[in-house]
Amino acid sequence: MDDITAMIMDDHAAFRRGFARLDDARDEQELLGIWEALALHLDIHAEAEEAILYPHLVRHGDDGEAETVDAVGDHNKIRDAIAESKLHPVGSDQWWAAVWRARRENSEHLAEEEDEALPDFRRHAGAELRAELGHRWLTFYGEHKNGRNLVFHDKDPQGYVREHR
Ligand SMILES: [Fe+2]
Ligand SMILES: [Fe+2]
Repeated sequence: MDDITAMIMDDHAAFRRGFARLDDARDEQELLGIWEALALHLDIHAEAEEAILYPHLVRHGDDGEAETVDAVGDHNKIRDAIAESKLHPVGSDQWWAAVWRARRENSEHLAEEEDEALPDFRRHAGAELRAELGHRWLTFYGEHKNGRNLVFHDKDPQGYVREHR
């Protein structure tokens, strides 16, 4: 079974490729095809982290509470930008502005997660736990295929930490 951190990093690589692919899209159909899949993946990924990764990190990390507050706040910004993009015609100026906001927020967030949250998690999670959470990660994606039964709403970062610590 794969380690949860490897699966998270694979998703991050897919996000970077997805945003880069938008640069080369030739028309609205291509933009829509790329963005619909990427936006859904971004939303499901944030939910999966909030369900599986951060509840562990908030309790066991050296700086887990602060990292979790940051991460949930970043996820909110990405969710908001994705929701904003859906209010505008694909390829319009407003659509591009929202997509670029999602891209910038996401790039910043991935760096923080990869350089702070994940290293902290690795210090406290052994191979067995990482594999167990990897299993839960896959199960989550299966249960919520295409976002089924998920609502992509913002969460209060402080409230999330209080609930999970
Ligand atoms: Fe992530
Ligand atoms: Fe994240």
